[in-house]
Amino acid sequence: MTAETGLRLGVNIDHVATVRNARGGAYPDPLRAARIAEEAGADGITAHLREDRRHISDADIDGLMAVLSVPLNFEMAATAEMQKIALRHKPHAVCLVPEKREERTTEGGLEVAREENRLAHYIAPLREAGCRVSIFIAADKRQIDAAHRIGAEVIELHTGAYCDAHAEGDITTRDRELEGLREMASYARSLGLEVHAGHGLTYDTVQPVAALPEVRELNIGHFIIGEAIFMGLQPAIAEMRRLMDEARS
Ligand code: PXP
Repeated sequence: MTAETGLRLGVNIDHVATVRNARGGAYPDPLRAARIAEEAGADGITAHLREDRRHISDADIDGLMAVLSVPLNFEMAATAEMQKIALRHKPHAVCLVPEKREERTTEGGLEVAREENRLAHYIAPLREAGCRVSIFIAADKRQIDAAHRIGAEVIELHTGAYCDAHAEGDITTRDRELEGLREMASYARSLGLEVHAGHGLTYDTVQPVAALPEVRELNIGHFIIGEAIFMGLQPAIAEMRRLMDEARS
């Protein structure tokens, strides 16, 4: 994190594991990517252990916990299996995300409002174990209120709809989505929640989100790993960091 901006970058390394798993071998190694990301200025590493283990594996999480010097943001579905794994490792942060087996990526935010009671009980032991609990949600007041009520310290706002609208050239929707992110970041902050954001961010879309003063952390993966194919991981991360700092200053 650059002290002046107070905006952290969490680099998501899931898709290094996606490439590795395409051949079922040992490389490219997500742990090596994590170490390079640290050197390139990542403030944290994010990894999503999916129920179907399509990218990150249990052994990757063991390795990350052992070697990382920056915090691990452990993304997971709110299942009993994942809770057990998180309680064994006690990562710095646990980010609860919705998961559907058939989806290509995390499509929407978590429905906290509908599952408030269960989630309140679910996160209690994680918080007692010292994990910061973050909830990945849409920019929706109802979900933010529910996340606050269940005792989450952090919300991560889903930027996917904003990024999709940008990619489709739908400026009206993009601007409306950005306005929603702006309003809901401010609302969440007013409740005392720490605000993060992520999903689908690219060099073209990161700056308006990075400029939102309430946002303290961006979690970015797929685009950075894709750019790394062309320019290398270190420069790909450094460029994202530069754009974030520029937007913030
Ligand atoms: N934040 C959360 C909660 C996510 O689930 C993901 C995707 O795993 C990301 C951020 C990163 O999204 P992307 O890989 O599209 O940058």
